[in-house]
Amino acid sequence: MTQTIHNIFTFDSRNLQEIIIPNTIDLVVTSPPYPMIRMWDELFFSMNSIIKDMILEKPQEAFELMNQELDKVWTALYSSIKDGGFLIINIGDATRTIKGDFQLYSNHSRIIYKCVELGFKNLPNILWRKQTNAPNKFMGSGMFPSGAYVTLEHEYILIFRKGTKQVYNETKKQNRRESSYFWEERNIWFSDIWEDVKGTKQLLTNQEARDRSAAYPFELVYRLINMYSCKGDTILDPFFGTGTTTLAAIASERNSIGIELEQSFKKSFLKNISFTNIQKLNEYICNRLYKHNDFVKCRIESGKEVKYYNQKLKTPVITRQEIDIIFNLLDSIKIIKEKIIINYMDHIGLLPYN
Ligand SMILES: C[S@@+](CC[C@H](N)C(=O)[O-])C[C@H]1O[C@@H](n2cnc3c(N)ncnc32)[C@H](O)[C@@H]1O
Repeated sequence: MTQTIHNIFTFDSRNLQEIIIPNTIDLVVTSPPYPMIRMWDELFFSMNSIIKDMILEKPQEAFELMNQELDKVWTALYSSIKDGGFLIINIGDATRTIKGDFQLYSNHSRIIYKCVELGFKNLPNILWRKQTNAPNKFMGSGMFPSGAYVTLEHEYILIFRKGTKQVYNETKKQNRRESSYFWEERNIWFSDIWEDVKGTKQLLTNQEARDRSAAYPFELVYRLINMYSCKGDTILDPFFGTGTTTLAAIASERNSIGIELEQSFKKSFLKNISFTNIQKLNEYICNRLYKHNDFVKCRIESGKEVKYYNQKLKTPVITRQEIDIIFNLLDSIKIIKEKIIINYMDHIGLLPYN
């Protein structure tokens, strides 16, 4: 039976080097407060009071100072992440009119610049398309040229690696095979535009907390964890919020550490994580297999060959790389001294393809 451990710290991530041992983190998946987005103004003002004085008079400098606060976190993460580990940041740019002047504040390019300067290598990023149907989405002079503005309907998922590619020894190789994803998942997950990830149904349903923390969708972080880490790895989120990263780490059999400034989020997460959530996560994992089985059925019905077979999941698979994939469902949850301990059942070969 496998086990994962999940820690949440109420702490300021700008000082995370005080609580995270260097070179111990396999993957960071996170979404910071977005500079120049109004909902985060007060937070940035509290980090550096000069920003409040700047924002109306010198907005470009305020933007820079807000990013300098985030830089402290990116810097600390560089030493926390193992060689070959990844830093993945979900970030949106901001548009804002200040004293009648409309402008784009490009958070994603500012963050790429800093992380590359720190020594991270930037890999191809993902554009997460978040289409809006709001009737007032077009801003500016309407049908008159040339004072209308393109609507921002996307965010970025920035992908960085520290150092060079990981080397897998024999034990790690088997774990890597068991942590693989299906061929058809690869085809969607590794495309550079994600249009199918919607910020809709979440597994923990405290909507008020989700709005307050601008939570990202479970599916988004679940994919990233499965794309860039293996079972048993340690995932860190320095901007924990409602804990979506921790939930996705739990569902993916990874350990996690969450760091959050606001005390209430940790309390609420520990209060809400329960057997009901475990069942929801298990449904989510099973659905992944059901979707695969549907995919295989369609493929076979359309006369295409499916050459390989995964004995554990009892399902045909397209490539040899998928024959060892296993999913272990969650069995129990314990909270001991505020640490969340998850035990898993053995693999779900109980749900055969037919
Ligand atoms: C965009 S939200 C993250 C939402 C999260 N991904 C989720 O799904 O709920 C940013 C979070 O970072 C927290 N935060 C901001 N500055 C922080 C800091 N310096 N240290 C730790 N947490 C911080 C905020 O309180 C907020 O909950």
